[in-house]
Amino acid sequence: EHDARPYVPHTADLDELGRAAASCRGCPLYAAATQTVFGAGPRRARLVLVGEQPGDREDREGEPFVGPAGALLRRALAEAGLDESSAYFTNAVKHFKFTVPEPGKRRIHKAPSLREMTACRPWLVAELAAVRPLLVVALGATAGRALLGGPFRVGDHRGLLEPLPADDAARRDGASLPEARVLVTVHPSAVLRARDRDGAYRGLVADLRVAARALG
Ligand code: URA
Ligand code: SF4
Repeated sequence: EHDARPYVPHTADLDELGRAAASCRGCPLYAAATQTVFGAGPRRARLVLVGEQPGDREDREGEPFVGPAGALLRRALAEAGLDESSAYFTNAVKHFKFTVPEPGKRRIHKAPSLREMTACRPWLVAELAAVRPLLVVALGATAGRALLGGPFRVGDHRGLLEPLPADDAARRDGASLPEARVLVTVHPSAVLRARDRDGAYRGLVADLRVAARALG
């Protein structure tokens, strides 16, 4: 019964989609979070980057990738020769999921469940149908699964250029996904947590270089 579809308007207007997403109640995650963090970027973009879900900073500011993971991602994009101002940034899940270990303590990120990702997916499909990118970069397993289907291991996909599968549900709803390719890489938060942070960062940049080459 968790499903964003009743809240998703039939439109390719990103502003209208974003306004509607602000009052989505498609799964229980809206209740504890501050606000919906919808995608951000140009209304048409050749490149879309998909993360997992907003973090603490994104939840408070209402914008994707404005925290530490976003800073690392932007640095990696620049190093790979990709222009961040022409890219659209979004997440597989639009509300921050967290636990508070003790009252008054810092909020700790919690991975969204498959049900929550599936519930939220119609927003991602609507964004892709509106933005119509050539290339979609999936940052981590949740995004990879939302775009390519699961079960999913980043290591089985990373660095490849795979076709974005047609979405039957979207077609029923009258939206059509673009003929885009999907490139899977690690999530920037995983780079921040990695024991070999430099190595993980270099791996992210190497994958993003594949994206840069694909976009010419
Ligand atoms: N991590 C994500 O996946 N998305 C954000 O917007 C920020 C951090
Ligand atoms: Fe709706 Fe997605 Fe938020 Fe769940 S996480 S309430 S489906 S926008």
